[in-house]
Amino acid sequence: MAAARGLKVVEDACHALGTEVATGDALHRVGDCSFSDCAAFSFHPVKAIAMGEGGAVTTRDPEIAERLRLYRNHGIVREPERLVRGEARAPDGNFNPWYYEVVEPSLNFRVPDLLCALGISQLGKLERFVVARRSLVKRYDAALAPLAPLVRPVPRPAGLRSGHHLYPVLVDLAGAGLSRAEVMGRLRSLGIGSQVHYIPLHRQPAFAAAPERFPGAEAYYARTLSLPLFASMIEADVERVVRGLSEVLGV
Ligand SMILES: Cc1ncc(COP(=O)(O)O)c(C=O)c1O
Repeated sequence: MAAARGLKVVEDACHALGTEVATGDALHRVGDCSFSDCAAFSFHPVKAIAMGEGGAVTTRDPEIAERLRLYRNHGIVREPERLVRGEARAPDGNFNPWYYEVVEPSLNFRVPDLLCALGISQLGKLERFVVARRSLVKRYDAALAPLAPLVRPVPRPAGLRSGHHLYPVLVDLAGAGLSRAEVMGRLRSLGIGSQVHYIPLHRQPAFAAAPERFPGAEAYYARTLSLPLFASMIEADVERVVRGLSEVLGV
């Protein structure tokens, strides 16, 4: 569709680091841009790898890569062949080493070097983190099976090998006779944190739109609850969370 309309496809892959998708015989790793022009990743502290703040963009297109580098740093160029003004040169004809030009309006999107060093080190651990998350998710799926249909993991499409940034479940709150706040509060009193990912954009004041226009997002939001998932969890933690949820829901 995008090709027919001359559009670029940008993946918001901020949750998908380490995810792979199988199509026929091929296994595509998110970020290899098999289906997009570029993919954006976040390395915010809650993401699969953390470097404080910041992220990365991947692309196979050298032109996009070049533009990204330009926009990253105020749209500034210093390479002599890209400078257009006469004052780029000193009277002796050589380029002034101090000279630069802003060729596109932009901002500072640089990640500090110190955070990049942390991010590069974290990237080396990604495989290990993803393996741990996949194994914890398997454990969760099995431990939660007896709580169905009151609690169900969010369905995952065939062919997807998720990096499991989150472990969201769908809870039939009406069936349990509890509000989400009650469930979260009771879990908290057992020392178990939970979160809601996410409040739909159309419910945010800045983007407000009629909820009936987004029935899918509404249905998901009404039930979703993210259970704790992080690479250093152990199976006994998963079992404690599931026991706690079972106790709170009375199943
Ligand atoms: C799906 C998604 N896209 C984009 C972002 C933004 O990432 P950042 O905060 O690193 O800019 C987030 C952050 O939570 C996210 O969850």
